This record gives sequence, C-alpha cells and structure tokens, in this order.
Amino acid sequence: MRLDRFLANLPCYNRQQVRLLLVQRRVRVDGQVVADPLHDVREFSRVEVDEQLHQAGRPLRYLMLHKPAGCVSATHDPQHRTVLDLLPEALREDLHIAGRLDFNTTGLMILTNDGQWSRRLTQPATKLPKVYRVETEDEIGEHYLGKFAEGFYFAFEDLTTQPARLEILGPREARLEIVEGRYHQVKRMFGHFQNKVTGLHRERMGSIVLDPALAPGEYRPLTPAEIASI
Ligand code: URA
Repeated sequence: MRLDRFLANLPCYNRQQVRLLLVQRRVRVDGQVVADPLHDVREFSRVEVDEQLHQAGRPLRYLMLHKPAGCVSATHDPQHRTVLDLLPEALREDLHIAGRLDFNTTGLMILTNDGQWSRRLTQPATKLPKVYRVETEDEIGEHYLGKFAEGFYFAFEDLTTQPARLEILGPREARLEIVEGRYHQVKRMFGHFQNKVTGLHRERMGSIVLDPALAPGEYRPLTPAEIASI
C-alpha cells in the first residue's frame, strides 16, 4: 500500500496532516526517513512517525555469539564455515554482522536484523568502545602507550586513528580499547612496531560483554538491557 494511504488510514492523521508529516521528514520506514508519499509499505515494513511505532514489521532479533577461530565473518562463503553456520537455520534469515572479526579472531560477535541499531554499534562517529585482548609475537614496550593514545596514520584511508587505550598485561599481552573498527585495525596498529598479533579476542562492545557462559561457537539472545544500552 502507498505510504500516504497507509498513514491516512490510521485513526490519528488526516490527509493534510500526512502530507505535512512527510514533508517534515518525520516518517521512517524500516528505520529510514521516507518523504515519498508513493513509497510502498508492506506487511513486514516497520513504520514510525517521530517516536511512535505504527506497524512493528518483522520481529527484531539481536544475538551475541562467541566467535571461534577459523570461521569467516560473512553471511556466505564458498570455502569456509561462516558465523551464520553456527546458528540454527530458523534464526539466520536476514541477520547481519555488527562489526566483523578476522578469520582467526575470537570473541564477542553481535548479529541482528536491526540496521539502525547496528549502525550505532559500528559507526566511528558514535565512538563506542570495543575492547580486545591482544597477544603478540614480540614484547610490548612502554613506548607503545603514547603512540596508541596519539593515533596511527593509515595511508590507505588517509586518516589518523582515534586515541586508543592500551593496557599492558604481560610481556606479550595487552588489553586495547578502540572506538573505531577499521579494516584489520588492531593488527595494523601493532604492525607499526613490526610486532605481529598472534592472538586477538574481542571482550566487549560498549557495555555488552561476552558472556563467560558461552563456549566458542555458542550464542544467546541479547537481554533487553543489553539492547537498550546501545
Ligand atoms: N582488528 C583486527 O586487526 N582484526 C580483528 O579481527 C578485529 C580488529
């Protein structure tokens, strides 16, 4: 059904109010602002005006998975097992990954079908801390601390990384908090010191902490409090 007709059929708006709502960009369909009165609204579309939900659309799903090593952060891969293969088929449909991890990186992975919510989790602008435990081939020196706080220049993207917090836990072990998720970011940061990352594990994204009860490969739904924290 056309969006303007859908809205005018609700008891709360007449046709003139609907026109105004659209022009004022107060209507969202599936999380995106829509101003086009002809936009097609389906049974599974989510329709909101300001903060009011008029049609819930498909149920939103939010999962935490303990990603094991040796699996790809993708929904399909011709060669390797993907993180979606770890979920029962009935749960997989329309899920996407909020913050990929490399093939051998382990730890907290969040999957959802709520695009608006997952953008808050991954967009550098929201500056949500992501915390990793890092193991390296060579010793981590005290002189690393200043460089992580100052930022690293990434020529490919032509940017300097946001200040990051490094806590040295042992000669070859550290905890690192970053607020972005650039391609291979942690490995490239340690690469600046020619120090190879040999183990990488994501412990936390914002206030969502990997549940210690989850063994590698296991998952659980996020709690309402975890969802609301983002
Ligand atoms: N940084 C990396 O280099 N790899 C990851 O998997 C995550 C962050």
